[in-house]
Amino acid sequence: MGSVGRGVVDELYRLVWPKPLKLFTAGPVACFPEVLEVMRFQMFSHRSKEYRALHKDTVERLSRFAGAVDGVALLFPSSGTGIMEASVRNFVTAGGSVLTTIIGEFGSRYREAVESNGRKAVVLEKEAGEPVLPEELDESLRKHPEVEAVTITYNETSTGVLNPLRELARVSKDHGKLVFVDAVSAMGAADIKFDEWGLDVVFTSSQKAFGVPPGLAVGIFSREALKKAENIPDRGWYFDVLKYLQYQEKEWSTPSTPPIPQIMGLNVMLRIVDLMGGKDSWLSMYSERASMVREGVRDLGLELFARKGYESPTITSIKAPQGIDGYEVYSRVREKGYEIAAGYGKFKKTSFRVGHMGYMPKEYIEEVLNSIKEVLDELGWVGRR
Ligand SMILES: Cc1ncc(COP(=O)(O)O)c(C=O)c1O
Repeated sequence: MGSVGRGVVDELYRLVWPKPLKLFTAGPVACFPEVLEVMRFQMFSHRSKEYRALHKDTVERLSRFAGAVDGVALLFPSSGTGIMEASVRNFVTAGGSVLTTIIGEFGSRYREAVESNGRKAVVLEKEAGEPVLPEELDESLRKHPEVEAVTITYNETSTGVLNPLRELARVSKDHGKLVFVDAVSAMGAADIKFDEWGLDVVFTSSQKAFGVPPGLAVGIFSREALKKAENIPDRGWYFDVLKYLQYQEKEWSTPSTPPIPQIMGLNVMLRIVDLMGGKDSWLSMYSERASMVREGVRDLGLELFARKGYESPTITSIKAPQGIDGYEVYSRVREKGYEIAAGYGKFKKTSFRVGHMGYMPKEYIEEVLNSIKEVLDELGWVGRR
């Protein structure tokens, strides 16, 4: 085909990219050029020895990254929410209860996943901007010894708050509970030590901090959780974690067709992490970016949603100043060539967010901060500047 198809490719490109935008989104985020490059490769069978080599190498790199030697990393052809649902169906007995901690929209989604799968949710909910504190979790678990597991949103994307996962996991384990972690917007940017912290389920999506296109989810599971699943019937088919485990152990593949290009993308990113000096340097890059954004918005006189000390390394949620519509800020910044994220759900008008995941040269951050300043000037905001 080659040149014959060039016209339709250009046509489609114009449809989705009518003008260039630099991305500061909540995900999908901009990908490293190397990721886009390997995703253009011709396809090959997921039952081939070449695929097995790719799968094995990717899982081994991921396990190292997440500190999972006992824990098992598996790859799923879905977005992260699939594994949220799988955690309930595979590791909680039918009709059993789960303590769902909620600090924003994605904590609420976990509660829905629990309830819509016939399990009971006991809720510990905090105000937007607040994390869950270990003593609060301890108190809830004392009141509800019946729960089988605790769900924790590591990084709440709607408010830009990072929960103190390590401490929350310790409290949960002291009470003998399984720990399920939604790390969709955290893994790859905030540290995770799967075995050491005593986690049981951790999941993420490709389109967040690893900077890969959407379509691939990663789940990491403890031996304790996998053992429990053996006695839980009705785990379903598509998200039966034990089936994924079997295929991986038998042939380094998946029960159904995996998103091979995304796995190639993730693999190349894990290699880039090594090239950039390893996990610690990579995580430092994320915390530097986040500080740069936070300092920039504070210099503009704006306030963050997140309580001090619990700010997210991947997304900064900013309160729109009095009298200014946050969605208008988002729209105008977009017009200037920068796609930030609008406020999430009920905070659509009262906030806007700046994501700092994926491919993002430092100078882009300076540019987007200037653009936000220009927009606030245009909207006549005279802040503390
Ligand atoms: C914290 C969190 N959990 C879950 C999800 C849902 O992930 P996915 O869209 O990959 O299913 C998101 C997506 O933004 C998220 O930020």
